[in-house]
Amino acid sequence: MPERDPNASDDTRQAGEDRTLTTRQGHPVANNQSQRTVGSRGPATLENYHFLEKISHFDRERIPERVVHARGFVCYGEFEASGKIGDEPASTYTRAKLFATEGKKTPLAIRFSTVIGGRDSSETARDPRGFAVKFYTEDGNWDLVGNNLAVFFIRDAVKFPDVIHSLKPDPVTFRQEPNRIFDFMSQTPESMHMLTHLFSPRGIPASYRHMEGFGVNTYKMVNAEGGTVLVKYHFHPRCGLASLTAAEAGKVQGQDLGSASRDLFEAIERGEYPQWDMFVQIMDDHEHPELDWDPLDDTKIWPENDFPLRHVGVMTLNRNVSDFHNENEQIAMGTGVLVDGLDFSDDKMLVGRTFSYSDTQRYRVGSNYLQLPVNSPKGVDGRVHTNQRGGQMSYGVDLAPGQNPHVNYEPSIHGGLREAERKPNHAPEIHGHLTQSVLERRNDYVQARGRYNTMMDWERDDLVQNLGDLLGQCERDVQERMVWHLLLVHDDYGTRVGQAIGVSANDVKHLQPLAGQVLTDEDQARLAKLG
Ligand code: HEM
Repeated sequence: MPERDPNASDDTRQAGEDRTLTTRQGHPVANNQSQRTVGSRGPATLENYHFLEKISHFDRERIPERVVHARGFVCYGEFEASGKIGDEPASTYTRAKLFATEGKKTPLAIRFSTVIGGRDSSETARDPRGFAVKFYTEDGNWDLVGNNLAVFFIRDAVKFPDVIHSLKPDPVTFRQEPNRIFDFMSQTPESMHMLTHLFSPRGIPASYRHMEGFGVNTYKMVNAEGGTVLVKYHFHPRCGLASLTAAEAGKVQGQDLGSASRDLFEAIERGEYPQWDMFVQIMDDHEHPELDWDPLDDTKIWPENDFPLRHVGVMTLNRNVSDFHNENEQIAMGTGVLVDGLDFSDDKMLVGRTFSYSDTQRYRVGSNYLQLPVNSPKGVDGRVHTNQRGGQMSYGVDLAPGQNPHVNYEPSIHGGLREAERKPNHAPEIHGHLTQSVLERRNDYVQARGRYNTMMDWERDDLVQNLGDLLGQCERDVQERMVWHLLLVHDDYGTRVGQAIGVSANDVKHLQPLAGQVLTDEDQARLAKLG
């Protein structure tokens, strides 16, 4: 199709440009103003092919919105590798080709999102932001599906539907209810760290360009010898960080529900291409008994003093989508989508997520969602050779050049597909009883405390006010349990939020630890201080 200026009027139509309206059967449409009827006043006829096609396609225009992260915005760009991981060659840690050589560029799509609201909801909500990158590498796609806050509310995927139900609207009134949110959170001490981030100024990023991105879960890197390390991913915006207060967000939202998408789209249209530096943190691949938290716990960050950030490259966003539905609604990312040299860890959230993403995408987009242009691998030079056939809306067969089209199975001696070469891989030896249990090193309050300690006064004021505003709408038993947790995080934090809602340390000293809750010595000492 010839490129045209979308603002050009019919008078500026180029010679030879045919813009005749047709059906999807290729029939020219001579009348798009009236249905076929008997006489000008009706009745309408049933063989009205153009009308029925038009209206029945319209009836199906929406696909189910994402069950979470429904509102989001996609754009495209590239990742340029430094060829190093910090000061060392990237190959020391990973054989993933996208990191291997200095200056190597890998195209990518990124989708920023909010989590809880529906597809048309406000982009200035106090809500984590999704930061999901699809790298179209030469070894196939790599999806890194993260957020802007570095941690998460829970550490076991079995709790995900519960945490999301508590944050979503009430199933009866369809209102987001603080009492439901904090009813759940007050029984979930591991959420205190995430809540401390979310209710701080960082809880409402000013735009998608002004926020960090984190992989959040713990992954592995694998080198050419099959050696592995644990890894966390970080992106730092070159625009710097900027946030909105609740009052500022209210004003923006009164004017524009889509302020973050607009900011990103317009910046790219102006040629102001946002950039992020990408870093990794690395840890030897074992349990690290010396730490009082677990490296596989996504409610924890890895302190940067102990596990320094190592630069790996720069991400630049430089192109907007050409169609929102095709490229935003139909893009499908998930934590299972890794390339050679990158691997899963045993992080229990990561494993649960990995099932959930492609499961929901088969439902939301369809069983052949990977054949759609935005999802199909771009870096592999057309090399998608599978024995998968059929399913709704299949429009291609993944044949290899020279493949016998009758052989859609493997192994075969009659011209079918062959397995790829096997590469050295770590083979972890796993021992243990089958169990349903929580990570032993929970230490649920230590990093929330650390975060509170490093906040500036104005950030603490904002945090206390934001939490107080919502907790003030909760029932007394929920308020008391939340203040109890916050006092165990930090005296000042608990006392100030308590003052904001009329709950004192004295009011909560009768509360016992939650069933199964493990307190550290420091937590016990704080509990004893309550009296
Ligand atoms: C989207 C499940 C935890 C970040 C989704 C979707 C599901 C899901 C079903 C919708 C996907 C789609 O329709 O295409 C889960 C489960 C989790 C979990 C079961 C926990 C076990 C997390 C965590 C993060 C996260 C910890 C952040 C690190 C995202 C993002 C999206 C998303 C960014 C939007 C992806 C896009 O833009 O298309 N999640 N999630 N999720 N999730 Fe999760």
